[in-house]
Amino acid sequence: EPGTSLYDRIGEDALARLVGRFYARVAEDPRLAPLFPADLTLTAEKQLAFLTGFLGGPPLYLQRFGHPRLRARHLPFPITPDRAGAWLACMRGALEATPEITEADAQELLAALSRVAVHMVNTPAGGP
Ligand code: HEM
Repeated sequence: EPGTSLYDRIGEDALARLVGRFYARVAEDPRLAPLFPADLTLTAEKQLAFLTGFLGGPPLYLQRFGHPRLRARHLPFPITPDRAGAWLACMRGALEATPEITEADAQELLAALSRVAVHMVNTPAGGP
């Protein structure tokens, strides 16, 4: 419906399942897994809190962890265009595995996340 947020349309349960499926893929992706901690529990909690606010729900990340400053928080990790593509491919796969999110909402979410992912690139192609 027009006027509702992506968060309202997706709902917190489906969003939590999406985030769980996303990190299961990240853990299996050789381009991404080496960057992340072995235990992804806290990472997934932070991502769920971030996406909740980013998609128009309550600002949980801000309340729990402060301003996201996402680009600064990603600077310790060498994020190449290839890794940004891998991140988005994991999200696409997780969306495909979450059919309760409609195709239209999935497309809108991927478009928004693509813009953030491009912004996170801090290392040229062929970097470490
Ligand atoms: C944290 C990688 C894109 C949101 C992290 C961490 C890594 C990472 C390695 C640290 C995990 C940890 O220590 O717990 C990447 C890579 C990306 C990417 C390779 C490719 C472009 C994004 C995007 C978003 C995002 C597009 C948002 C839509 C977050 C959040 C955290 C995080 C909220 C937690 C920050 C914190 O509080 O520590 N990311 N990320 N990331 N990422 Fe990304």
